[in-house]
Amino acid sequence: MSAPAPAAPAGRVNLLAPHVARWPAGAPVVELRGVHKRFGDLHLLRGVDLTVRAGETFVIAGQSGSGKSVLLKMMNGLVAPDEGEVRLFGQPLAALREAERALLRRRCTMVFQSYALIDSMTVAENIGFPLTQGSALPAPEVARLVEELLALLELSGAGGLLPASLSGGMRKRVALARAVVSNPEVVLLDEPTTGLDPVMIEFVDALIAKTQRLYGLTSVLVSHDMTSNRRLADRMGVLSEGVLAEVGSFEEVSRSACTASPRCSSPTT
Ligand SMILES: Nc1ncnc2c1ncn2[C@@H]1O[C@H](COP(=O)(O)OP(=O)(O)OP(=O)(O)O)[C@@H](O)[C@H]1O
Ligand SMILES: [Mg+2]
Repeated sequence: MSAPAPAAPAGRVNLLAPHVARWPAGAPVVELRGVHKRFGDLHLLRGVDLTVRAGETFVIAGQSGSGKSVLLKMMNGLVAPDEGEVRLFGQPLAALREAERALLRRRCTMVFQSYALIDSMTVAENIGFPLTQGSALPAPEVARLVEELLALLELSGAGGLLPASLSGGMRKRVALARAVVSNPEVVLLDEPTTGLDPVMIEFVDALIAKTQRLYGLTSVLVSHDMTSNRRLADRMGVLSEGVLAEVGSFEEVSRSACTASPRCSSPTT
């Protein structure tokens, strides 16, 4: 008896929303219009406009504290804007009930800057958690999917470890695995490589590109590592003074940033 062939990427079903048709490639999937956000006296976002299309990798760069993480959390409704509109899969998040936003979050998962792994669970349990909590898949099937991802992310053998015993690079990869285990259509990645050494950055970048290629993911990636951005971005935007000041290809944005700033530090090599 032969094992069933793995499903082709185009036929991959979201295991947390199996009856929802996948969003068509190239269609606007994340849309922000005139988005403002204030925290007390801090007017952080001052009219952000952005359209991310299904299938692309969009990178958000910007200085520490510019609001990148807040912006990313707005895209799946974890943070609400004070003004403006955010649409995910064509639906205005503010008009939805929390249960409806939660359903969209099954199609648009997130890798948090702080990893957000569950300390008391093993690596394998962390990765399988979305499926054990949110799907009716039998345990052996969850275990098989987790093993597949552990191998893909070069974490074979680490499934039984607790997060406390992992290196930073391993935690980033576990968080990435947990975000893609259910076959979401969109993944929001907050600084997936910050703080890692250059060899590990290159490795994690390659894994992000590989999972995207294999699974046809739309990625919105926050990163101020320009080497990573050059490698991964189909388009990128720079968040500065509350707006996406520059949007374009990596080359266009770096050129424009260099023209605008006498202290340009964008790498050109
Ligand atoms: N819930 C909150 N309440 C109050 N202030 C907040 C809240 N969330 C974010 N901020 C403030 O908004 C600003 C931007 O935060 P954010 O985490 O989005 O920055 P960032 O661009 O992701 O920075 P970094 O590159 O360091 O991760 C910071 O000054 C932060 O203190
Ligand atoms: Mg951040």
